[in-house]
Amino acid sequence: MVQNLVEKIVQRFSVGLAGGHVVRAGDYVTVRPRHVMTHDNTAAVMEKFEGLGTPSFDDPAQPVFTLDHNIQDTGEANLAKYAAIEGFAKKHGVVFHGAGRGIGHQVMVEEGYAWPGTLVVASDSHSNMYGGLGALGTPVVRTDAAALWATGETWWQVPPVARVTLTGSLGSGVSGKDVIVALCGLYGDDEVLNHAVEFTGPGVAGLGVDDRLTIANMTTEWGALAGVFPCDEVTLGWLRGRIGTGVRITAEAVADLETSILEPDSDAHYAVLLEMDLGSVEPTVCGPDSVKVARPVSEVGDIAVQKAYLLSCTNARSGDLAAAAAALGGKGVADGVEFYVAAASDRIQAEAEESGDWQALLDAGARPLPPGCGPCIGLGVGLLEDGEVGISATNRNFKGRMGSRDAQAYLASPAVVAASAVAGRICAPEGPGGGAGGALEPHISRPAAAPREASAVEILDGFPATIEGELVLLDADNLNTDGIYPGTFTYREDVSPQEMAEVAFQNYDPDFGSVARTGDILVGGFSFGCGSSREQAATCLAHFGIPLVVAGSFSATYKRNAFNNGFPLLDCPDLVAALREAAGGDGRPTVRTGLGAVVDFAAGEIRVGEAAHPFAPLGPTAQRLVIAGGLEALVRSGQ
Ligand code: F3S
Repeated sequence: MVQNLVEKIVQRFSVGLAGGHVVRAGDYVTVRPRHVMTHDNTAAVMEKFEGLGTPSFDDPAQPVFTLDHNIQDTGEANLAKYAAIEGFAKKHGVVFHGAGRGIGHQVMVEEGYAWPGTLVVASDSHSNMYGGLGALGTPVVRTDAAALWATGETWWQVPPVARVTLTGSLGSGVSGKDVIVALCGLYGDDEVLNHAVEFTGPGVAGLGVDDRLTIANMTTEWGALAGVFPCDEVTLGWLRGRIGTGVRITAEAVADLETSILEPDSDAHYAVLLEMDLGSVEPTVCGPDSVKVARPVSEVGDIAVQKAYLLSCTNARSGDLAAAAAALGGKGVADGVEFYVAAASDRIQAEAEESGDWQALLDAGARPLPPGCGPCIGLGVGLLEDGEVGISATNRNFKGRMGSRDAQAYLASPAVVAASAVAGRICAPEGPGGGAGGALEPHISRPAAAPREASAVEILDGFPATIEGELVLLDADNLNTDGIYPGTFTYREDVSPQEMAEVAFQNYDPDFGSVARTGDILVGGFSFGCGSSREQAATCLAHFGIPLVVAGSFSATYKRNAFNNGFPLLDCPDLVAALREAAGGDGRPTVRTGLGAVVDFAAGEIRVGEAAHPFAPLGPTAQRLVIAGGLEALVRSGQ
């Protein structure tokens, strides 16, 4: 069977596959990632790890600890936390990069932990960035990280894969940041939500690694679980250039890579195909408060700024600092504007010092910060204050993230940030900007998928071969975790299982508790469980006595939280469509359909009367989580 690049990388990093099994999107697999990175949250993962009762790491060479988020905080408590992490690393023989070395994702890339053709995870949402170097980088939650330390393995459901074909080439003054911000705006209707993205096409060769890293980094904001570039001559050249510079990239490793590069099959299947002409991208700004509101800088109007930021894992590499230094045009930062600069790592700062770009930024009046996250996550000095407007080269502009909720943040490229700092209002650098192409137009197609056949799977001892129950339709798409489990209960530790059951779906349908019954099979719409990560949005349903939720699709985080707590979910868009036709559309949020169903896990189908609706089989990985009652219990059991 043909495979796309994501499927090939997962195939390479899967363990325990049945003989001859070819990995494809939708499969639940057990994977052994090359590395797992944790940053300041290492302390929280340490607590979870200790709760597992495992005395040592399965493979101390797999984890990487970096300290980056709160490095400006030299208070006693934070220093004690950092010292505890360092001591823990020493005790277990884990590599440790302390405060000041750089942002974890950047360290992962420049030290060669993220490597083309490999699966590399991190307990942070911007692990997508490793895709800029051809790695499949994807986030895990803290429980997964602790389980990885203990066992070396975790589980993953291979997401649907989107292909983005890039044509043309970037015009003068246009960067990778403009490309990804423009993509977020051009395809802003969740086209790649919970997908992995593969970038391809003739335009890729013209993008340097810095631009690719920025684009891959912000596929997170686009809604994707990964964003992977091919490993090509540009990638290899970048790696060769780092051999012998004091990082861990060796000539032998690069030579090995040259003989083992993975490429997608030419006729591989993709869930969705998108295109972008790079020549049509202009310097672009998005915001405030959203990445989906994107406009060319030329159309933003007159917006004064009081703060400007050139920092973060998104855009603080050498090329970014050079572009910003050039955009200053020899001028100083405008009166009334504070311009903060932090390199993504100490090595990058050293490179920029050597090139003169660092000094050019300081001479213009930029205020240096240590290489770390800082204002990107609202920590340390220089945050946005009430009523202020900021222009930032970071990746997120949610209300309140970079300081006051009464401030506004816009996102743009390093060149636009620097030009805006000098002008005191949002603008592009002087000179031509943009490419020779025409207006950006969306091009999207969805190839027909080969219909998923019901496929038999071995049922493990302790896992039910079938579940039977009445189907109850929750006729809504994007039913978020606040709708499933109210936020007001989320951070209370004194809620009993019975109370949790009583408040299930309270915000979605206050009558849910009187309509649904124990043993019902819930059927939701698409993107079920989106919104904030909340384990109780799964466990409250188990406490209610719901054995299973079926939906057209789930939020990836909801799915991780559900299976990590031993609660099963099934994707079955076929059943959702049939049920909506039979029982939906009358405005009731919770509908008893009167239809009994048999969920046959062995056959991989849900039978409702004469109809059979196939689903991706729950393989042994998912079954084990359910049997054990969740990931922590599974690790403790040593299975
Ligand atoms: Fe840090 Fe901001 Fe990146 S918090 S990891 S620099 S998104």
